[in-house]
Amino acid sequence: MMSRMSKSKLPNIVILASGNGSNFEAIVNATRKGILNANILRLITNKKCFAEERAKKLGISHTRLKDNWAEELFVLLKELAPDLVVLAGFMKILPSKIVNNFKIVNIHPSLLPAFPGKDAIKQAYEYGVKVTGITIHFVDEGVDTGPIIFQKALEIDGLTLEEVEKEIHKLEHKHYPQVIESILNS
Ligand code: GAR
Repeated sequence: MMSRMSKSKLPNIVILASGNGSNFEAIVNATRKGILNANILRLITNKKCFAEERAKKLGISHTRLKDNWAEELFVLLKELAPDLVVLAGFMKILPSKIVNNFKIVNIHPSLLPAFPGKDAIKQAYEYGVKVTGITIHFVDEGVDTGPIIFQKALEIDGLTLEEVEKEIHKLEHKHYPQVIESILNS
């Protein structure tokens, strides 16, 4: 009873994903370890993806959007009324109706504004940069644009693409839950 009461006082977040879902899982684990004090209301996906399997395993309720995804998402978010919407590899551009009505945060695997869009780790690697990293930012109507909240750099000289991917994901899993926690407390 006590734990249910305290849970209801936590800020509510909704997570949107389209792919592997490793950031989604890291966020869920952070709530269970007390690193992130938030209640995860729902995982929302826009297609069949491994994030959905993780949701089942972790006991988080899940909704997959259909063809009319933007309208459906808008209605769902209105209904859920989360304190924060967290994009974790959600590969769709959100329409202004959604961006203007909800507080939304995104993570991107490069030092924005360099290498926005898909396959950012590979883009940076193939360009030959010596330093790349991660960016966490508020979401606007652009592709990986919006005010930057947090960045962490990573030196990648001498690493293989696979090693860079591994190191970038490690940084994401460590910092995204912490940054979400600080946004919810600000
Ligand atoms: C993450 O690396 C995230 O930064 C990236 O998608 C990956 C999702 O991984 N997002 C973008 O590229 C946004 N433009 P995950 O499904 O394992 O969390």
